[in-house]
Amino acid sequence: MSNSATATQGVTGQPRASERAVDIRDAHYVYPTGNVVALGGVDLRVEHGEILGIIGQNGSGKTTLTKLFNGLLKPTSGKILINGIDTSTQTVQQMAAHVGYVFQNPNHQLFARSIEEELKFGPRNIGVPEDELDERVAQAVEFFGLKDYIAEHPYRVSFPIRKLVGIASIVTMRPSILIFDEPSTGQDHNTTHIINGLMRRLRDEGTTVICVSHDMPLLADVVKRVIVMKDTRIIADASPREVFADKALMARTNLQAPQITEIALNTVVPRGGHVALTPEELAADISTRIRGTAVTPSSTAR
Ligand SMILES: Nc1ncnc2c1ncn2[C@@H]1O[C@H](COP(=O)(O)OP(=O)(O)O)[C@@H](O)[C@H]1O
Ligand SMILES: [Mg+2]
Repeated sequence: MSNSATATQGVTGQPRASERAVDIRDAHYVYPTGNVVALGGVDLRVEHGEILGIIGQNGSGKTTLTKLFNGLLKPTSGKILINGIDTSTQTVQQMAAHVGYVFQNPNHQLFARSIEEELKFGPRNIGVPEDELDERVAQAVEFFGLKDYIAEHPYRVSFPIRKLVGIASIVTMRPSILIFDEPSTGQDHNTTHIINGLMRRLRDEGTTVICVSHDMPLLADVVKRVIVMKDTRIIADASPREVFADKALMARTNLQAPQITEIALNTVVPRGGHVALTPEELAADISTRIRGTAVTPSSTAR
């Protein structure tokens, strides 16, 4: 720990307050196999405590972008600073104290012989003491509902449970930045419910979260900022309300706004761009339109 690049890294990976969580300057990435341009000049700044959603069609470069955050991929050109640290000077293992990366497919991530060992591996690897490790694992087992499975081999449980193990094994490291690549795609109702609860908890705790997702209602509920990717670039960066209300943008990227927002756009004329994102907002807008006054939950109960 003598050079300046590593001086900011503690075992907890806590950033200095003055540094941005993510600072990406003109990043390009070309896959050597087939010479495929996956990122064609991406600029992105993310502050600590922000929750950022990433949407875009298949092949637009979302996964490639997320892999730059933890140094799994190094940019072909451009600069990636994470908590002020240039990823090009670091190994993936060094970055792991700062950035937790939850793979889309848990099969690319799990290797321990039991789920309990899997949950302990990451935090142990970054130097968390054994007694604290037990506490973190106990908390994760409780939150993710893994009590009945801890002695099992990760590959002997169902795919949704394995997905939760993959997420839990990263969350136990408590990195200051968490990256999820399509966490709820292909999951069952129970797993999706737990993942959505996790997103809300992380938001409330002030963890920096970057989440690639097709779950538009979840994004509408949890994130304050969405970036839209198309053909290797970011083409929009705004609030979910602005992004989902932009019919031309949604059509251009072949994306679908949350159903509630589509209904709102086709029925209640949005006031000053404040199109409804949730059923509650839509109900209030319709009520205002009909009666000239909003119906609140307490007034409907009477
Ligand atoms: N390992 C790889 N080798 C070569 N090309 C790849 C590889 N992974 C992804 N690509 C290509 O890079 C582009 C972006 O892919 P990706 O980042 O996975 O997009 P997304 O996550 O938005 O679906 C696509 O054209 C894809 O085919
Ligand atoms: Mg992807």
